[in-house]
Amino acid sequence: MTARLVTGIGELVTHDERFAGPLGVLRDAALVVQDGVVVWVGPASAAPAADRARDLGGRAVLPGFVDSHTHLVFAGDRSDEFEARMAGAPYTGGGIERTVAATRAATDDELRARLAALVAEAHAQGTTTLEVKSGYGLDVPTEARLLRLAGEVTAETTFLGAHVVPTGVDRADYVALVVGPMLDACAPHARWADVFCEPSSPHAFDEDEARTVLTAAARAGLGLRVHGNQLGPGPGARLAVELGAASLDHGTHLTDADVAALADAAGHGGPVVTLLPGVELSTRSPFPDARRLLDAGVEVALATDCNPGTCFSTSMPLMVALGVAHLRMTTDQAVRAATLGGAHALRRDDVGHLRIGARADLCVLDAPTYRHLAYRPGVPIAHALPV
Ligand code: NIG
Ligand code: FE
Repeated sequence: MTARLVTGIGELVTHDERFAGPLGVLRDAALVVQDGVVVWVGPASAAPAADRARDLGGRAVLPGFVDSHTHLVFAGDRSDEFEARMAGAPYTGGGIERTVAATRAATDDELRARLAALVAEAHAQGTTTLEVKSGYGLDVPTEARLLRLAGEVTAETTFLGAHVVPTGVDRADYVALVVGPMLDACAPHARWADVFCEPSSPHAFDEDEARTVLTAAARAGLGLRVHGNQLGPGPGARLAVELGAASLDHGTHLTDADVAALADAAGHGGPVVTLLPGVELSTRSPFPDARRLLDAGVEVALATDCNPGTCFSTSMPLMVALGVAHLRMTTDQAVRAATLGGAHALRRDDVGHLRIGARADLCVLDAPTYRHLAYRPGVPIAHALPV
């Protein structure tokens, strides 16, 4: 069992209450890793001897980012839709079926190669835990295939058969397929289930349909997540609270009653609200107000939503920068949301922090402080650090 010492850490974000400030920051720090787990954290001057040592020369370290919302298994390109949106076209979810057609036509190896490239891209920017959804299959064999491929890169797999109703298919018939044969084929490959609950979109699911899907998924043993309140006010947030979902994702259009319901549930395991500001950036839409949620006591996560339609970015540092510039978050709040917030949205206690016992997932910055994540937008300063 080799003990590895990482020393010369100018600033270490731990989320350990023993250390300073809301992020548990330690300066001139070191940590020791054994078998992939953090076993010691403290001042570099007091570090124990180890089999191997690495000196980071004063760079900042934080927990690897937890990207708790992505759609990374797909084929095709929709840059033309992006360009149209930048010229003023609205986003309705209608383009999802273009990705479905390209994905169904792709081989496993083609999908695997694209997925591996995106995971590597995220890792190169400091992401060490990723959730990956299906949702570009919309038939039984393809949804199961996408989840099997997702399971090759992460344990955080999400069944999103209820992404949109395929054109030409009766809505009720499709919901019956999702909660029947599709759920049977997909549940063994998924930890979570999700639904695009957005009554204002003709393609997505209304409250009753979403409740039917999520209730069946919970009965099959899956944890719940909800895409909701993205395009306008709607039932997503209330449904997430009612059904005990781990996360309400997007949450751009929340009423005061939604925020109150989320705040009431926050004390007893209610949903984290996972904000996805890359979507507002890439759809030219108004950004959500994170501070309103945080002030009400609701836990917030930041994630990329990386997908070919609404946000083709794997960059968690960009989400931190957007959180600070556009969501009214402090840098401390945004960094917490991109690490510990994401871990809580996935109900994980082994990642998102660097307390003793954590998985040794480190993000190192070519910078003296985590504040540079927001201060230097678009500059590739963050990297996952192999230990
Ligand atoms: O999270 N809103 C629903 N689903 C995705 C977008 C999927 C797409 O347009 O391809 C999202 O934004
Ligand atoms: Fe999404």
